[in-house]
Amino acid sequence: MSYDARFRVWRGDADDGELHDYTVEVNEGEVVLDIIHRLQATQAGDLAVRWNCKAGKCGSCSAEINGRPRLLCMTRMSTFTEEELITVTPLRAFPVIRDLVTDVSFNYDKARQVPAFQPPADLEPGDYRMAQVDVERSQEFRKCIECFLCQDVCHVVRDHEDNKQAFAGPRFLMRIAELDMHPLDERDRKSEAQEEFGLGYCNITKCCTEVCPEHIKITDNALIPMKERVVDRKYDPLVWLGNKIARR
Ligand code: SF4
Ligand code: F3S
Ligand code: FES
Repeated sequence: MSYDARFRVWRGDADDGELHDYTVEVNEGEVVLDIIHRLQATQAGDLAVRWNCKAGKCGSCSAEINGRPRLLCMTRMSTFTEEELITVTPLRAFPVIRDLVTDVSFNYDKARQVPAFQPPADLEPGDYRMAQVDVERSQEFRKCIECFLCQDVCHVVRDHEDNKQAFAGPRFLMRIAELDMHPLDERDRKSEAQEEFGLGYCNITKCCTEVCPEHIKITDNALIPMKERVVDRKYDPLVWLGNKIARR
């Protein structure tokens, strides 16, 4: 069964833009990305949209649908009523390049700033057998497709552009937590997370977890445990004594 849906799509570039209204045919089983492609094919040949896999795995088609960060290829048209006006806009937290395409290089910069895994220098291949529980702990975080929907929704950067310098965002704080949980990582991730990557800015609103298409429990399994380890460390009497002596 086909019907005509009402779409309102943001068109413009870094300098200027506005919402345009379209009426587009929808067929059974389609997702929002299908409709955007039909719009390109029939009415707006120059509409810019980034996509690749159409299977929820490449993380490129991130945008906002009715104000909520979502993957265009994983949002079924059956989520909406036939009468509903569907508004599609670019990710709000990142600069627009054109139409639905944003410049997400903020995320690549943050990724580069996170120091790599640091095992003991004298560890030879095969010296250490990782416990299954340690493997499983980080496997959840490895499901990340780098869609940056969590980065877009987090109010710390969404509503305060000037926090971008000091805050790495949930995706990269999760990466730091993952490295900190690794039994062989020797780096001091705790003070780094707090002082250089802005863990303290996160006030556990959990919006990142709500929008994650991979259903990673970013807040409960990465950010809160990392915050707890930072606090444990701060109030550990031995660490306190060590810091005191070091400061002399
Ligand atoms: Fe996307 Fe989830 Fe990865 Fe964030 S953690 S970038 S929402 S897949
Ligand atoms: Fe932001 Fe997620 Fe924390 S949305 S405030 S990083 S819980
Ligand atoms: Fe790859 Fe949507 S096109 S996640």
